[in-house]
Amino acid sequence: MVTGAARGIGRGIAERLVSQGYAVVVTDVDAAAVQATAAEIGAVAGLAHDVRDPAAHRHVAEVAAGHGRLAAWFNNAGVGDDGRLSELSEDQVRRLVEVNLLGVLWGMRAALEAFAGPGGDGSGDIVNTASLSGLGPVPGYSVYAATKAATVSATMSVAAESPRRVRVHAICPDGVQTAMLDEQDPEGLGAALVHSGGRILTVEEIAELAVGLVGTGRVVRTVPVWRGALMRTISLAPGVAAKGTALFAAQGRRALRRG
Ligand SMILES: NC(=O)c1ccc[n+]([C@@H]2O[C@H](COP(=O)([O-])OP(=O)(O)OC[C@H]3O[C@@H](n4cnc5c(N)ncnc54)[C@H](O)[C@@H]3O)[C@@H](O)[C@H]2O)c1
Repeated sequence: MVTGAARGIGRGIAERLVSQGYAVVVTDVDAAAVQATAAEIGAVAGLAHDVRDPAAHRHVAEVAAGHGRLAAWFNNAGVGDDGRLSELSEDQVRRLVEVNLLGVLWGMRAALEAFAGPGGDGSGDIVNTASLSGLGPVPGYSVYAATKAATVSATMSVAAESPRRVRVHAICPDGVQTAMLDEQDPEGLGAALVHSGGRILTVEEIAELAVGLVGTGRVVRTVPVWRGALMRTISLAPGVAAKGTALFAAQGRRALRRG
């Protein structure tokens, strides 16, 4: 089961699962797009599903159980509004928290219930698409980063409190070439920082690593690993990090100008 799978990283994850022989249920808030995606990639179902609705997750779990034992559940749907806290509208702040954080919490609850229920055998994997931004300060993406930090936190806690045969993971990618990235303000601070790290990642490489977490004991996977280590180091001294923002942003703007 993959949420937010009409396009981008979710679609990539679903395609990879199909290629590995899984019966895949793809879902998205965009009903027409996810139905088209399901047909194109050979998923067994493409369902309209707003991750902000806990009951909708339970419905999806029931449909998935009709196609076999629920083995893996990917909470991938997300919105990526960039902007400083003061620049975002109330609706944007609420939507970021409701989709990126509550959506993952409701999804994890539905998956845990399904693994333990009649459609499951007490085992299963949950993979949450978090972000490198969840590991340290990201000016220009403060609310988005906060939702991803909370996702990383919840992943670690739920991983530790779940039964031994249930594994919970978070993948934390740096910038990935998707519509979400294209939709950010190219002149904004967020865009400059995303492009300060070198190469923008591809959907295929994130999909491979996300699916590769299934069955492993790895809880948090950062991509690339060195940027993850950098973010964690920066978060130890956020006061100092604030001073480095201008430097990173200038580096990112140069990269953007180079295209
Ligand atoms: N692109 C990046 O640079 C990047 C980096 C790190 C993490 N991520 C995360 O990866 C995930 C996928 O992002 P993407 O880059 O593929 O973006 P995307 O915009 O291409 O895809 C996101 C999908 O989620 C769906 N969606 C949005 N709101 C929804 C809702 N309420 N319920 C169900 N579906 C909903 C959208 O319709 C869309 O199909 C997100 O969680 C994002 O935060 C992206």
